[in-house]
Amino acid sequence: MRILFLGDIVGRPGRQAVTDRLPGLRERWRLDCVVINGENAAGGFGITESICDEILQAGADAVTLGNHSFDQREALVFIARQPRLIRPANYPPGTPGRGATVIETARGARVLVVNVMGRIYLDPLDDPFAAADRELEACPLGAAADAVIVDMHAEATSEKQAMGHFLDGRATLVVGTHTHVPTADHRVLPGGTAYLSDAGMCGDYDSVLGMQKEEPVRRFLQKTPGSRLEAATGPGTLCGIAVETDDSTGLANKVWAVRLGPHLDESWPREWD
Ligand SMILES: [Fe+2]
Ligand SMILES: [Fe+2]
Repeated sequence: MRILFLGDIVGRPGRQAVTDRLPGLRERWRLDCVVINGENAAGGFGITESICDEILQAGADAVTLGNHSFDQREALVFIARQPRLIRPANYPPGTPGRGATVIETARGARVLVVNVMGRIYLDPLDDPFAAADRELEACPLGAAADAVIVDMHAEATSEKQAMGHFLDGRATLVVGTHTHVPTADHRVLPGGTAYLSDAGMCGDYDSVLGMQKEEPVRRFLQKTPGSRLEAATGPGTLCGIAVETDDSTGLANKVWAVRLGPHLDESWPREWD
C-alpha cells in the first residue's frame, strides 16, 4: 500500500497547493490512502465544512485536526456528520466528533486513522498514550485494519518520539503535526512503524509558521497589542511523508520525505514516479 500524509494546511496557499497538486500526485504515485491535517485550513484557524469538502474532493481520504479543531465554531456541528474529519481522541468525553475513523481504499483495504494531541505546551487533555492504546486495541493492525495511521499533534519532539516508540509495531505510521516545520528524522522504527517527528505544513514558507511575518516579528520586538495574525498569501509548499507498506503485515517497508514547492529543498519518492 502507498500512503501519503501531509502536514497542517495553513490558509489559502496550503489549500491551493493541495487542490492544484494532490489530484495529479494521487494518480502519478498510485496512492492508496491520503491523510491531511487541516486544523489551520481556514485562514490559519480551524476548518469550515466547505473547506473540508474541498480537501476531501482534492483526494484526501481523511482530515485530522489538533488544538485549532474548533476555532471555526461551525466545526462543532458539521464534524458530527463528516466521518472523514477527526479531532484528537483525547478530548474530554462529550466533545463533538470522533478521534478515529476507518476508511476503505479503492482496492478494499481498511485503514484506521487516529488523531491524538500531546500535552506539553498545549491544553492538557486526557492522556494521549492511553487514548491511542484504546483506539488501536479496538481496531488492531493485521486483524481489523490493514494499515494504521496515527497523527500525533504535539509541540514537543520528546512526546512525539515517545508515542512513536510506544506504538512501534502496532501502527503503520506515527507522524507528528502542529509545529509547521518539517523534521528530517523520517525512518522505519525497529518494530516496523514509519515515524516522523513533524510533517511540516502545507502553506507559504515565506512566513512565520504560515502567517504573514510582519506581525509575528513585531510581537517579538514590542510587547504591545497589534493587529491580527493573517495567513500568508504567497505560493504554498506541500510537506509530509510517503510510506510504502508490506501488504502482509501492514507495517512500513520504506519512507520518504515529501517537500514540493518553492521555498524548501524539494524531496519526494522518486521510485514512485
Ligand atoms: Fe497547525
Ligand atoms: Fe496545532
